[in-house]
Order: sequence, then C-alpha cells, then structure tokens
Amino acid sequence: MKQSVKSLIAGNWKMNGLGASLAEAEALRSALEAEPATCRVALCPPATLVDRMTEACAGGPVEVGGQDCRAEASGAYTGDISAAMLKDAGATLVILGHSERRQGYGETDALVLAKAEAALAAGLSPIICVGETLQEREAGRAVEVVREQVIHSLPLVLAGQAFAVAYEPVWAIGTGLTPTLEQIEEVHRAVRAAMIERLGLAAATTPILYGGSVKPDNARDILSTPEVGGALVGGASLKAADFLGIIRAA
Ligand code: 13P
Repeated sequence: MKQSVKSLIAGNWKMNGLGASLAEAEALRSALEAEPATCRVALCPPATLVDRMTEACAGGPVEVGGQDCRAEASGAYTGDISAAMLKDAGATLVILGHSERRQGYGETDALVLAKAEAALAAGLSPIICVGETLQEREAGRAVEVVREQVIHSLPLVLAGQAFAVAYEPVWAIGTGLTPTLEQIEEVHRAVRAAMIERLGLAAATTPILYGGSVKPDNARDILSTPEVGGALVGGASLKAADFLGIIRAA
C-alpha cells in the first residue's frame, strides 16, 4: 500500500445525525474495507450516536470521536459529558476548542487546555482547533491570533502524546470559502512553529489538519499543501460518498 504522508481525515458531524445516519458510517466502513485508506479515518458524530457508531464500526478502519467534553471528570454539570464517558462509549479521540464552541459558549484557551488534559487523562487523543475570524484576517492578524491560541490551548503534557491541531479559519467554516493554498501554508507553518515553541521537537511531526469547506473537489490541492497533515471535515463528512472523495484524495 502507498504510504501516505497524511495522518488523519476526521469528519465532524456537528449537531446532525439520527440513528438512520449510521448507514453512512456503515457505507464508509464497507468502502474502506474494500479499498483501504492511506491515512487514519475518523467520524465524530453527536454524543448520542458515539456508542452506536462504535458498534457499527467495531473492528473496522473507521475510528469514532466526540465533539467536545467537560474538563471535570464527573459531577453536577447537567447536560455535559466527560472524557471518560466518551471513552467508555467507544471514542478514541475528541474535538476540542472548535470555533463554534469558542464563539457560542465563550470557551477560552485556558478552558480548551483543561479539556485537553482531561481528554489525555481519559485515554482520548485530542484534536485541538484554532483559527482566526474574518475581522482578524482582514486586520492582518491571522498568524498572530492562531499562534496565541496554540501557545495557550496546548497543555504541556501533550509533549510526546498522540494528538492533532486543526487550523479552521472561522470564515471558511460552512461558507464554501477557503483560504488560498499560500495562506493555508503560511498559517500551518506558524502553527508548527508555535507547537514546537510550546512542546519542543516532540511536536515536529504531530499532524496539523486543515478544516473549513473541504470538499472532494478541493481536497487534493489542500491536502498536498506543505504542513497539511490531514483534514477536519464538516458538511462533506455527512455523506459517505462525499467523505470518501476527500479520503481518496489523501
Ligand atoms: P465545513 O467543512 O462544513 O466547512 O466545517 C468545517 C468544520 O467546522 C469542521 O470542524
């Protein structure tokens, strides 16, 4: 099998998916069993489906992840779930600090850092999201903003551990807009430098995923950009056929 330099293509279903949607996970599993992917593949469904998707994907090439977790291990936090609960339901990874949580719930870098510590302690690999707003990009501050987020959201215990950072420009999420390949490369290089500054050379090979309007027709260009180690895919991960189109481009 061709050895890919891409590490991980992960799908973020966000608040989409009922039991019937497991058919998409099953279709993805079958397709990847027939023709294996050259990288790791994961789906992050809503929490209600983690258990059932794990069962549907058991023993196959599709990993299952959560979309968020609480930093505390347990307690009186109505509506929240812990990293250990996700792990118990079968998740192997968890998305943390997505811009929809940073913006919608006021999640700070410090909170994302605490969640990443909790995820690691529970045996989950965190995918830590960073990204600038349109206003920040237009002000010429994209690299600076993302660097700050990396430095302050990554706990030191991540050094040497399995995790990923996802660069998701807020203005590219769900809009059909994407940065130029030069802009993606520039920010990914800045993310790499900040990761090494924070965690040392152990972070020199940690995958940096790109996210924001990744589709089958732009995946090949984006995934062949230097320092892009995979993708975090929203809308196009909901249908197995579209997600496969991206996975086959890796
Ligand atoms: P879209 O691929 O729908 O733009 O979403 C990206 C994203 O937010 C993944 O976490």
